[in-house]
Amino acid sequence: MRPIIYCLPLLFYLLACASDTTTEMRKESKRGSYETEAHRPLFHFSPDSMWMNDPNGMVYCEGEYHLFYQYHPDSTVWGPMHWGHAVSEDLVHWERLPIALYPDSLGYIFSGSAIIDHRNTSGFGENDQAPMIAIFTHHSAEGEKAGTNDFQSQSIAYSNDKGRTWTKYEGNPVLENQGIRDFRDPKVIWHEASKKWIMVLAAFDRIKIYSSADLKAWKLESDFGEGYGAQGRPWECPDLFPLEVAGSGVEKWVMIVSIGRGASNGGSGTQYFIGDFDGTTFTTNDPVEKTLWVDWGKDNYAGVTWSDIPAADSRRIFMAWMSNWQYAQNVPTKKWRSAMTIPRSLELRSTENGMRLFSKPVQELEQLRKESTNIELSEKPIALPALAEIQLVFDNAVQEDILFRLSNDVGESLIFGYDARVESFFVNRNYAGKTDFAEGFSGKHYAERTIIKDEVSLHFFIDRSSIEIFADEGATCMTELFFPNEDFSQMEIATYADLKEGVLYELSSIWE
Ligand code: FRU
Repeated sequence: MRPIIYCLPLLFYLLACASDTTTEMRKESKRGSYETEAHRPLFHFSPDSMWMNDPNGMVYCEGEYHLFYQYHPDSTVWGPMHWGHAVSEDLVHWERLPIALYPDSLGYIFSGSAIIDHRNTSGFGENDQAPMIAIFTHHSAEGEKAGTNDFQSQSIAYSNDKGRTWTKYEGNPVLENQGIRDFRDPKVIWHEASKKWIMVLAAFDRIKIYSSADLKAWKLESDFGEGYGAQGRPWECPDLFPLEVAGSGVEKWVMIVSIGRGASNGGSGTQYFIGDFDGTTFTTNDPVEKTLWVDWGKDNYAGVTWSDIPAADSRRIFMAWMSNWQYAQNVPTKKWRSAMTIPRSLELRSTENGMRLFSKPVQELEQLRKESTNIELSEKPIALPALAEIQLVFDNAVQEDILFRLSNDVGESLIFGYDARVESFFVNRNYAGKTDFAEGFSGKHYAERTIIKDEVSLHFFIDRSSIEIFADEGATCMTELFFPNEDFSQMEIATYADLKEGVLYELSSIWE
């Protein structure tokens, strides 16, 4: 007979969602600091005000991690795109800097990447200093309105003062459009073996690979992806990088591709391919129809990795926009819209189901830990700080559901965990507060387990209005937003599995 450790009311599935306007008003009137702003994340990067989407130009330079981002300074919805800018010395605390790139006569500044041109191949360097170069899409709103097909082209800009001021190249665009409406989001890497720059570019339903000696003249090398993986369109924000398969000494290449529609739980999402790259062509041995997701949650999009991380560090660090085009412009925040995910370090590992990408929160986040509490299974709810990191390992879990319920005093709950019947992790945000601001927001979302084993490990971060779950050491991830009328303040766990380890950390704000 299996022991009934305890049984929390199965009310987990029967929760009412009460909207509490008085709470909202109380918070409104106290607004002034981030703590009192409803839903404002406190350890994720968000713009102080106005609209943000994709991370752009992530590059490391002389002790600073740069984060540029799609930014509309005049509104809390998408509009003429600029590159906002922030820097961090530790990937955790961010200093916001003035806007880096403004729209110009060629159009809005869409997504792209940045690199340090160590060999000064571009000739933009001054005083023997390597220039920082941004490679981005110019989007002509007029061209789009006029019904042309070539309104997106690729351009470059350079900075000789560590990204503080920028000059756009007078020969822009450096890569003209041959008539593909969705032709954007250049990610550039230095390919050491062939000693040239490689650009991966999204072109509607595939990725185009270009090469260049000087970042100014680009040659088409090949296409990848027609018919591969998830075919929701448009394909956007690609990335391409090598990773060693953990412990094997074997190097493989990973291609990341975001898709605007048709992700596993609806709307936008990010898939990846594992293969080889010879400086010209990317090939994968995975079956054409196989889809691998970087993150299965609804709110992880347009993520790419940092360039120029020093060799001594050698991590491949990924960050994404924590939202979904299905409802990003309608989420119930007032002064600002959208935040980034926490930075994650990517690893390739061989599993019994083949090679897989694992994501781990970067260790720099550990500096945010304050108080820690051991978690035990008990009927008594656990006090939950608004900013929390939780790590648990369950034994004898493969056939047991593991249910978590976060709740607040106004009767709202976020329910998530492991559903043994379908061997999947899930997040149910139907009862987690405001859901009716847009179609496609509410729902119960699933993530297929990558490796089926008896032990289930769960590592998750809660930042007032988001959860990021790293299950099975990061083999399966889920990032989801929710908008409770009060921050969640307690957590209950219901399971017949054995809890082997459990710890909860209260985290501090990065803006303190
Ligand atoms: C992805 C995306 C990119 C584009 C940018 C525009 O979210 O659609 O393809 O460059 O956003 O803001």
